[in-house]
Amino acid sequence: RSGSILQSILATVPAGMVVIDEQGLITSFSATAQALFGYSETELLGQNVKILMPAPHHDRHDDYIKHYLQTGEQHIIGIGRKVEGRRKDGTIFPMQLEVGEARIGEECLFTGFIVDLTEQTRTAAEMQALQ
Ligand code: HEM
Repeated sequence: RSGSILQSILATVPAGMVVIDEQGLITSFSATAQALFGYSETELLGQNVKILMPAPHHDRHDDYIKHYLQTGEQHIIGIGRKVEGRRKDGTIFPMQLEVGEARIGEECLFTGFIVDLTEQTRTAAEMQALQ
C-alpha cells in the first residue's frame, strides 16, 4: 500500500493511476481511478487489469504484456493510445491511456495513467453534427 502523502498527491492528479505487476495484477488504484471506473481499490487489488476493458483487448491483454516482456516492443509505453475502458456498471467509455514502466530490481511494475475522453468525444460529435 502506498503512503498517505503519495495518495493525497495522486488525488490531485486529473488522471486516474493504475499500477500493475508483470502478471497484469493491480497493485495500486488511485482515488481518481476509483471515481472513474466505479470500483474501490480494495475490490481491485490483485485483480487482473483486463477487468477494466471490454473485448477484444480484454481477451488479449495478458498476451500483450507477455509479448512486451519477451521482446521489449512497445505499442503503448511511451506512445499512448486512445482506447475503450469498461466501468463496473458495464458502460464503455473512450479514454486516453499512457503507460510507463518502473524497474524495481529484477521486477518491473507498469504505471497506467487514464483520462476520460467522454466529454471531448461528445463535443467533437456535436461539432460534426453542426457542420
Ligand atoms: C499493451 C489495451 C489498460 C499496461 C496494450 C495494448 C493495447 C492495450 C491495445 C497494445 C497491444 C499491441 O498493439 O500489441 C489496453 C486497454 C486498457 C489498458 C483497452 C483499458 C483499461 C492498461 C493499464 C496498464 C496497461 C491500466 C498499466 C497499468 C500495458 C502494458 C502493455 C500494454 C505493459 C505492453 C507494452 C506495450 O505494448 O507498450 N494494452 N490497456 N494497460 N498495456 Fe494495456
